[in-house]
Amino acid sequence: MDNDLVIDSAAGRAFDETQVPLYYSRKTADILYKYGPGPRVHFHMGMFGAGETPNTTVSQRVIRRRIIDSQEAVLHHAASLWRVAEQPPATLLDIGCGLGGGAIYWAQEFGASVTGITVAGDHIRVIRDLAQQAGVADKVTPVLGDIHDLKEERRYDAAVAIESSGYMDRERLFSVVAKALKPGGWFGIQEHFLCRPEWTEFIDGYYKTRLGTLTEYLDAAYAAGLELEQDENITDRVAEFWVQSMAWSTAELEKAERTGKPSPIKRARLTESALTHGKLFRVWRDHAVETRHLIFRLRDDRI
Ligand SMILES: C[S@@+](CC[C@H](N)C(=O)[O-])C[C@H]1O[C@@H](n2cnc3c(N)ncnc32)[C@H](O)[C@@H]1O
Repeated sequence: MDNDLVIDSAAGRAFDETQVPLYYSRKTADILYKYGPGPRVHFHMGMFGAGETPNTTVSQRVIRRRIIDSQEAVLHHAASLWRVAEQPPATLLDIGCGLGGGAIYWAQEFGASVTGITVAGDHIRVIRDLAQQAGVADKVTPVLGDIHDLKEERRYDAAVAIESSGYMDRERLFSVVAKALKPGGWFGIQEHFLCRPEWTEFIDGYYKTRLGTLTEYLDAAYAAGLELEQDENITDRVAEFWVQSMAWSTAELEKAERTGKPSPIKRARLTESALTHGKLFRVWRDHAVETRHLIFRLRDDRI
């Protein structure tokens, strides 16, 4: 449909919004296989200790455990940086909640009532099942919808977007979030930011994103009445994730070869991941893209 092809105002490039739910619907089973079984299943990069480069000549099971632990570690890091424990939000909006790993995390660790919004229809049932398994079905409400259309006002103490804002129009995102937050509310973001534009096409093409620059985010936030409180560059601590992920994909390919039993993930996809993640490691190591934790708060003059 023509009107689904929007021109991303900040970057001036075309973005096909219909591709995002299709991409995620196709990936659900693969995400569960690689990052599951949960109940906290994440689809974001993970964090390692400063200078930590764990040996990849270990079993695939060890690598997998390490990948999942690193995904949890990055959430712990964000929660501590954003001082969530000091004043836990009673109500939290998880924007682009994936399979609900983050929503379940905020509910289990901080007792928040979390609304998780996603554009991928078949994620809803999975999130419900996983929240049930985690014992927080009463605290996690998955909603199928597009964040750009959110109409809620003064409803949430906090909002988070963990590696999801890269799919969104930032002016609209910050504007709906500013309206949806209660006075004094905060908005935490984990995202990748373009530093060297020659990589834009490659990364956006692979993930179907429309990544932006930090300046673009700060401008959009300011215009919506949100003030930056903290900005931490975690690029060097997440870059290792690509090495571990590449090792997992390679081991999966080798296992299929050795046993003659095909992986549930298509061979072509595994090969593409192994190659692309190697390239992405270099992109992150060279800081051509940077991953950051940002936290914004509603400005007093907006209250
Ligand atoms: C990389 S995944 C991150 C998932 C999750 N935050 C996590 O950390 O595991 C991106 C998520 O953003 C969601 N998403 C993308 N565009 C969206 C939109 N316009 N409105 C709501 N969700 C969106 C996708 O459905 C997907 O769940």
